[in-house]
Amino acid sequence: MSKKVIFSGMQPSGVPHIGNYFGAIKNWADLQDDYNCLYCIVDLHAITVRQSPDELRKNTLNALALYIACGLDPDKNTIYVQSHYNGHSELSWLLSCFAYMGELGRMTQYKDKSANNPDNINLGLFAYPVLQAADILLFGSHLVPIGDDQKQHLELTRDIAIRFNNIYGDIFTIPEVFTPKTGARIKRLSDPEKKMSKSDGEAHYVGILDPADVVMKKFKRAVTDSDTEIRHDPENKAGVSSLLEIYALACGITLEASLAEFEGKQYGHLKTTVAQAVIDNVTSPIQAKYNELIKNPEHLQQIAKTNAEKAKNIGDKVLVKVKNAIGLI
Ligand code: TRP
Repeated sequence: MSKKVIFSGMQPSGVPHIGNYFGAIKNWADLQDDYNCLYCIVDLHAITVRQSPDELRKNTLNALALYIACGLDPDKNTIYVQSHYNGHSELSWLLSCFAYMGELGRMTQYKDKSANNPDNINLGLFAYPVLQAADILLFGSHLVPIGDDQKQHLELTRDIAIRFNNIYGDIFTIPEVFTPKTGARIKRLSDPEKKMSKSDGEAHYVGILDPADVVMKKFKRAVTDSDTEIRHDPENKAGVSSLLEIYALACGITLEASLAEFEGKQYGHLKTTVAQAVIDNVTSPIQAKYNELIKNPEHLQQIAKTNAEKAKNIGDKVLVKVKNAIGLI
């Protein structure tokens, strides 16, 4: 039996935060032996909002370096840049003939983005989910690890694939959301009732590339409670519980072991110790690897090229089937 395919797309501008890292990226490295994993830096999606060419170039290469630094091995996974393989654009056009204006107009991301950029509501922004469907369907992807904000796009991908298959037979694999078993849900330091997210600004997340002093400062400001006891009780002590969870993850120990370290200690000690563990075990080593990689852009370009070829080898087979089915000669 051949391995199942996992596909994920990442925006080139997005520096992940520790919530993305512990919740997703860190676990992706464990998938590489059991699945055929593709990770695509989606520069074609990025240009649906205006980009400065220099920034886009820099962000795209940096994103590649960052995901490799986070532990994705480019020899065991296919990690590449969307625009390096023209199959994405090509399938996107073909699929656009099977996507309805009405369903695209209902996408909440489109509605939000057009409200935020009223002077640049372009066709690409409208067709964004069709390109995303092409990304996924191009590789016969079975599983797609995505956050809640992208579920609507995956649902649309499935609808388009099913619609196409109903006309032409079993061409596309119908993808599903991939929910990893161990995916941790890291809370905000500023508001431990809520999931860590970038939507409300810098102060609310710890970025993977945050310098050590910034990480320390953010943890020192972590919201806890007016009590003094350290115990794991997410209902009543969300902040303290979240810090204990982060410590366990950063040190690779159980929650019990994490609690044992801090029982009877003070909140101040908890905050700085957790911060230091995150710095020593997560952000510093990733940043060291990242800095090493971006020093050598030619090497990164070479990795991108080899991996785009791997993507092409898989995608072109599907593309041929699709074109044949439609009747292109
Ligand atoms: N739209 C996704 C986001 O903004 C990125 C993306 C593009 C994607 N193509 C994809 C995610 C395919 C999963 C699968 O996060």
